[in-house]
Amino acid sequence: MNGTDHLDPLLFGEIDPPQRLLMGPGPVNAHPRVLRAMSADLLGQFDPEMTGYMNQVMALYRPVFGTGNRWTMLIDGTARAAIEASLVSLVAPGDRVLVVNFGRFGLLLIEILTRIGAVVETVEVPWGEVVPLDAIAEAIARTGPRVVATVHGDTSTTMAQPLEGLGALCRAAGALAYTDATATLGGMEIAADRWGVDVVTGGLQKCLGGPSGSAPITISDAAAAHIFSRRHVEKGIRGDANIDGVGPRIASNYFDLAMIMDYWSEARLNHHTEATSMLYAARECARVALGEGLDARFARHAAAGRAVTAGLRAMGLTVFGDDAHRMTNVTGVYIPDGVDGERVRAAMRDHFEIEIGTAFGPLVGRIWRIGAMGYNAMKHKVLLTLGALEACLLAEGFSLPAGEAVKAALAAWDA
Ligand SMILES: Cc1ncc(COP(=O)(O)O)c(C=O)c1O
Repeated sequence: MNGTDHLDPLLFGEIDPPQRLLMGPGPVNAHPRVLRAMSADLLGQFDPEMTGYMNQVMALYRPVFGTGNRWTMLIDGTARAAIEASLVSLVAPGDRVLVVNFGRFGLLLIEILTRIGAVVETVEVPWGEVVPLDAIAEAIARTGPRVVATVHGDTSTTMAQPLEGLGALCRAAGALAYTDATATLGGMEIAADRWGVDVVTGGLQKCLGGPSGSAPITISDAAAAHIFSRRHVEKGIRGDANIDGVGPRIASNYFDLAMIMDYWSEARLNHHTEATSMLYAARECARVALGEGLDARFARHAAAGRAVTAGLRAMGLTVFGDDAHRMTNVTGVYIPDGVDGERVRAAMRDHFEIEIGTAFGPLVGRIWRIGAMGYNAMKHKVLLTLGALEACLLAEGFSLPAGEAVKAALAAWDA
């Protein structure tokens, strides 16, 4: 008997998932053009068509990141892969790093930096708030970091940290700046150059409307120079021209940005095998976003966020967090007293095929998170979600003014 003898001869059947509408904090439904691009045939990694696509991806993601950075490319892996690649390549053991922490993904930066052996300093606020720029300035002056690491939109709290002026503060202090923009890239403005943030990373599965598994990244010349000072080309591919940098070797091979930049450069120094189908997906995500126009796209996400917020409030619910710094694409809302949050989520899924999000950390069981991003930041999808939530809350015995949510959302969409 071998390990497969017990399997059904049909081998479980073809993949045929239910048609769920994913209105949580991500992943969301991928744009059909992205799914079609992913089904294109594969190429060898040094095929001129393939390297041409890689160069196109670099060009397409520069405007998406608001940058002219040469080093704008993809990390193979989910968004966390690009976060880890950035931190392990920028930060050596013993380096002092300041983390601007206002939620779960600030805690993730601290976790990764701790594993790297950095000396981690923090400036933080309670979940639901953002860190004022003068508090960041004071923390930089107090701690003298080599790198300042922030999150732009933290989906755990639904807050968007203002980053205007961060780069100037970092440059004045001789520090490099890193930002995790996974949850906002392609949905809210990312201005890597204007903000002066050296390294910004993203993911496809939120406002870019693709699947998870490829993480766009942009790296300033200053950050690239620092990373190349730690360059160490692995033995099997190094030639006489490859000379090690003077800095400490980057403590990860897979996430070594110096080797990954060499792979994406004209030298095409082989590192990993670029994930071809994910590169097709990332390329199409950017083409869809730029084809729509970034400003139009940001306005669409803002309209969706306004509509979700207005609809929830019209139902008599309380929206979570600081109104002035809300992400446009994910909204947190308190689960009303006496309502079982998980039963409502299950009813939304079972009766309406709609997924809304649960929460993390101190917000577990206290809020739901409703996302409207990428291909799902559409008026009808927001209205369907609000209508379904209303029905599920009524079924739980929660009393609300029936019909008001959809009406308020419709008005807010066009406001
Ligand atoms: C702000 C933020 N950073 C990082 C991540 C991690 O992304 P991934 O699961 O693709 O690694 C997420 C995912 O929810 C996120 O919202």
